Amino acid sequence: MELDPKSLNPSDRYKLLIGSVVPRPIAFVSSLSSAGVVNLAPFSYFNAVGHKPLALMFSVSKKPDGSDKDTILNVRPVSAGGLGEYVINLAVSSYVQQVAEAAEPLPHSESEFDYLELTQAPSKLVAPPRVAESPVAFECKTIQIVPVGEFTMVIGEVVHMFIRDDLVDDRYHVDTDKLGAVGRLAGYDYCHIRDRFTIPNGFSAEKKAALKQSQ
Ligand SMILES: Cc1cc2nc3c(=O)[nH]c(=O)nc-3n(C[C@H](O)[C@H](O)[C@H](O)COP(=O)(O)O)c2cc1C
Repeated sequence: MELDPKSLNPSDRYKLLIGSVVPRPIAFVSSLSSAGVVNLAPFSYFNAVGHKPLALMFSVSKKPDGSDKDTILNVRPVSAGGLGEYVINLAVSSYVQQVAEAAEPLPHSESEFDYLELTQAPSKLVAPPRVAESPVAFECKTIQIVPVGEFTMVIGEVVHMFIRDDLVDDRYHVDTDKLGAVGRLAGYDYCHIRDRFTIPNGFSAEKKAALKQSQ
């Protein structure tokens, strides 16, 4: 079928999007309010932006009443009333239950940490703590807030990275199997990365030779 996104209602567009753009990695974002309350929330509209500089993005909807979610209030630049820094903790299978629970909308004055069995660890270069249980944590400073209709895309530069020693070798290769990252699918479904295969980039030597012969 051919679909015109504008003629669909937003909830149908949402179902098509989250069912097709799969799996999505999950940013478990810890941030700090101006009153010093640590906020924690998962976002699967999340991905890498680039590595020069090392940058990540995530995108956040409004609350049902049209106001900004706590994470946006906290990560906005200082000039816009936020702190301009946060930590993206990678969601992995060992604490995925807490990741899902952290989506519970709590008042701005309450911390998800008070309700979840998770531990705070001090960050090195930003004020919000990282999640100690997370094997990878990216300490970020907000470089751009991009409004996209009713969504807000946050682009941050990674100013410091924590990765558990046993997950990375001396050439910075990450052990993906050990990492245990989970992906988000549609609805309440998640996935592991267990079915892996390898394909080199570009044409194979055989294909290159055959192409050369045919020229
Ligand atoms: C796995 C998962 C992924 C989510 N991804 C997003 C997302 O990408 N964008 C978004 O706005 N909300 C997303 N949510 C919902 C938010 O986590 C939820 O609205 C949360 O209460 C926001 O918290 P905050 O108000 O403390 O920022 C997701 C929830 C779950 C469980």
